[in-house]
Amino acid sequence: MRHQAIAIIGGSGFIGSHLVNSLVELGKDVRLATRRRYNARHLTLLPIDVIETDVFDPVQLARFVENADAVINLVGTLHGKRGTPYGAEFARSHVELPTKIVAACEGKGVHRLIHMSAIGADSNGPSMYLRSKGDGEKAVHASSLATTIFRPSVVFGPEDKFLNQFAFLQRIFPVIPLAMPDAQFQPVYVADVAKAIVNVLDLDAATGRTYELGGPSVYTLEQLVKYCGDAIGRHARIMRLPDSLARLQALSFEMAPGEPIISRDNLDSMKVPSVLSGPLAPELGIEPASIETIAPVYLTGGSMRSRFNTFRATAGR
Ligand SMILES: NC(=O)c1ccc[n+]([C@@H]2O[C@H](COP(=O)([O-])OP(=O)(O)OC[C@H]3O[C@@H](n4cnc5c(N)ncnc54)[C@H](OP(=O)(O)O)[C@@H]3O)[C@@H](O)[C@H]2O)c1
Repeated sequence: MRHQAIAIIGGSGFIGSHLVNSLVELGKDVRLATRRRYNARHLTLLPIDVIETDVFDPVQLARFVENADAVINLVGTLHGKRGTPYGAEFARSHVELPTKIVAACEGKGVHRLIHMSAIGADSNGPSMYLRSKGDGEKAVHASSLATTIFRPSVVFGPEDKFLNQFAFLQRIFPVIPLAMPDAQFQPVYVADVAKAIVNVLDLDAATGRTYELGGPSVYTLEQLVKYCGDAIGRHARIMRLPDSLARLQALSFEMAPGEPIISRDNLDSMKVPSVLSGPLAPELGIEPASIETIAPVYLTGGSMRSRFNTFRATAGR
């Protein structure tokens, strides 16, 4: 079946913005839910419907998904206050919302749902983030819908908050105290993530499947920080923090105003290697791009746009 009318929740963000562009190029009818129209201002020139709505309100959510051929949920958060088994923000964004999206789709007869999770998602995982992502997956699996779940490793691209942050910090500080330097990642390019989603949208064989997404190489966190230093030609000295100091550092970031650079929950998430458990599924149709071919273009910060992206990434916006 060809899915033409696509309703995206969380589409104004990093991955969503790339996905929306890909869907528009394919001539899909895209509608996007946002909490504030302003958050999707960079997409307003595209021929899409940006709808300010409260997706946690079942009536508004049902109205938003009505008559869509497919719904894509990209809402996620990396930070939340601590709680049992996970804090309120994680529960709301990763469990309550997918549960409500499933109910709205079932209620309105929308059969196709694509849901974004993360590598390592596990109801018994070591962090609130991973546990809540695991419970969100369960809510999606339990539905009667034609679902596909994606589990990316860390995603990189011009607007990322990961590599841009390491480049930014090395432009400013001579020393970086680095928590979890041996944590493993398999970064995947944002355009490949968007392409994989587009490629399975109409694929019957993808129904009921969970796909991990990663790039061609595995790196430690320390290697990635050093790579960003190479790319911008400025190397900070990396001070490998022992776990006790890493937790103190994270706690102090959590106590400062704004989004923390890193939280204790992020440290807990990094205990699980963010690495694919097997080869990429061929039906995803992607030849993943490497950091080395993509990142230097935006990390070097030559253009106004990349400077703006660095500012956005480090300002937590
Ligand atoms: N980026 C990565 O490296 C990565 C890695 C693994 C998994 N993922 C997952 O992929 C998904 C997309 O990630 P991303 O990096 O594109 O995220 P992002 O840039 O933070 O965008 C997420 C979007 O979700 C919406 N959102 C956030 N909190 C919300 C809330 N409480 N209620 C309603 N909407 C809310 C926001 O839309 P509005 O502001 O317009 O409302 C935002 O644009 C997430 O589920 C994330 O966990 C990302």
